[in-house]
Amino acid sequence: MTRVALAFSGGLDTTVCVPLLEEEYGYDDVIGVTVDVGQPASEFEEAEETAEALGLDHYVVDAKEEFAQLCLDSVRANATYQGYPLGTALARPVIANAILEVAEEQGCTGIAHGCTGKGNDQLRFEAVWRDSDLEVIAPVRELGLTREWEQEYADEKGLPVEGGSGGDWSVDTNLWSRSVEGDELEDPSYVPPKEIYEWTNDPSAETQEIEIAFEKGYPIAVDGVEYDPVDLIEHLNGVAGAYGVGRTDSMEDRMLGLKVRENYEHPAATTLLNAHEALEGLVLTQEEREFKQLIDQRWSKKGYEGLIDAPLVDALEGFVDETQQRVTGTVTIRFEGGQARAVARDSEYAAYSAEHASFDTETVGKIEQEDATGVAKYHGFQRRLANSVTENEDEDTEVELATDGSGENEDE
Ligand code: ARG
Repeated sequence: MTRVALAFSGGLDTTVCVPLLEEEYGYDDVIGVTVDVGQPASEFEEAEETAEALGLDHYVVDAKEEFAQLCLDSVRANATYQGYPLGTALARPVIANAILEVAEEQGCTGIAHGCTGKGNDQLRFEAVWRDSDLEVIAPVRELGLTREWEQEYADEKGLPVEGGSGGDWSVDTNLWSRSVEGDELEDPSYVPPKEIYEWTNDPSAETQEIEIAFEKGYPIAVDGVEYDPVDLIEHLNGVAGAYGVGRTDSMEDRMLGLKVRENYEHPAATTLLNAHEALEGLVLTQEEREFKQLIDQRWSKKGYEGLIDAPLVDALEGFVDETQQRVTGTVTIRFEGGQARAVARDSEYAAYSAEHASFDTETVGKIEQEDATGVAKYHGFQRRLANSVTENEDEDTEVELATDGSGENEDE
């Protein structure tokens, strides 16, 4: 008997994959696996009901904690891709690994997903699965299926595909973000209707402040109450979402090169990312902050690609971890006008001296205001030199190097 494990959501794509894996790929048995990364309960009900109607053996794996931890790791790397905090992207390797584990336990020789050949998820799933000996199958892509064909096929076969989750948009929801795409939203000039949002209210005039505590770059408490990662994210999605925080409407460049219109909601992610960056601003040195942008950008790119287990990421993590040793303290965030803005920060590791920076002090320790005079004289020296050479070329007159006012230039 041959068995194949299918990443199963109960939606149209994965539902038609069940009979197709038998008919077109010759498997005797299909098992469905749904991985919990914080989808709403309704999605599990839909998957459960559809599986039952199909007579599909259905496994549900809880990976919420592992996923939440990865989300908080991504905060330490200020991870976003074109403004999107990577909810879908970071979830994929977690889901893929959980399905692979079930597939191996259940003696499967094949493993399948319902992704199309246009998106990122096919790449992210397969990057994990192709490390194994299982046959990797992508029926929708390989058989060139369209939604229309799938609907007809489902009707013909009497498959249970009563579009449960409502709307014509394609939605992907987990703890970290909710993504909405497709249908009219594919027109970049179309203004999204209110109905696409489920996590965020429209911004109002109301405001609220909360204090987030970080330890070594990880958020651990809100207003003095400690939360574990899953609860922290869920709590902040609720609080910040009420103020309309964390909406993104962007043209996203997918890995294949396609540009797609994407809408996202991610209140907790926006809140935590803003707070974390504000705390880094207080404790990291200028050169650490500057260099870390490069590290963060690379981390984000690997996250977007679903390659978070690449050796490069381990190396980047080394840098991130080293810098995060001092990212301990608190940040006050104000929700206002749909924004989550840092309005105060505090840390015992602040690389900041009010005494030195203040307008009100003349001399601190051995440093006096007039010590800056020499620096000011040199600042922009090369530019002064280079500009004076070209200016003189233009005007064809004597070169004057006015750094010290002497006008001497040895080259002329
Ligand atoms: N474009 C995003 C990504 O690749 C999210 C896509 C989510 N899928 C969806 N059906 N809404 O990470």
